Amino acid sequence: MKLVFATNNAHKAKEVSEILGSSFEILSLKDINCNEDIPETQETIEGNAAQKSFYVYDKFGANCFADDTGLEIEALNGEPGVYSARYAGKACNFDDNINKVLLKMKGIKNRKAQFKTVFSLVIDGKELQFEGIVKGTILESRRGENGFGYDPIFLPDGFDKTFAEMNSEEKNKISHRGIATIKLAEYLKSL
Ligand code: IMP
Repeated sequence: MKLVFATNNAHKAKEVSEILGSSFEILSLKDINCNEDIPETQETIEGNAAQKSFYVYDKFGANCFADDTGLEIEALNGEPGVYSARYAGKACNFDDNINKVLLKMKGIKNRKAQFKTVFSLVIDGKELQFEGIVKGTILESRRGENGFGYDPIFLPDGFDKTFAEMNSEEKNKISHRGIATIKLAEYLKSL
């Protein structure tokens, strides 16, 4: 089955293709000549995922899935959440975002947090969503060099390595995106 994955993030495309396996031909946005920035203007992770998949479906007539992810920190009322990519401002990088989280969390005892990924799948104009959540805690300083985003400060429950101390295989097995991708893959394989 051919499906477009509405992302420009090559790292994510690789992660997801590895989990989905060879029964699916995953097309990139480049493959369908979609070179524009797809809007992500909704106020929820679910809303942004749906906005992206419907944008591609409506404009290019292609069956498609899109994802949106956020880090939700309990003591910060769910922040950075839907703003995870640009928490420290529009031109910020991963390091700036981590610094902002560490500063806001300084002295706070409740370090509980979760990553949430939502996939929105649109086939023939009908949408289904698949969610993956991984719970953990926010460390007081960075540990590890792998991964991306907030990985160096996120310690998943039941593990003694941060996401940035795991290799991609270890992380994929337990991660928010891994869980949501497996749900998506199981559904697609059942069609
Ligand atoms: P996106 O919706 O997948 O682009 O994710 C939004 C932001 O959440 C990213 O820019 C990262 O800062 C963060 N993020 C998403 N997935 C991960 C992950 O697996 N580890 C760490 N941070 C992540």
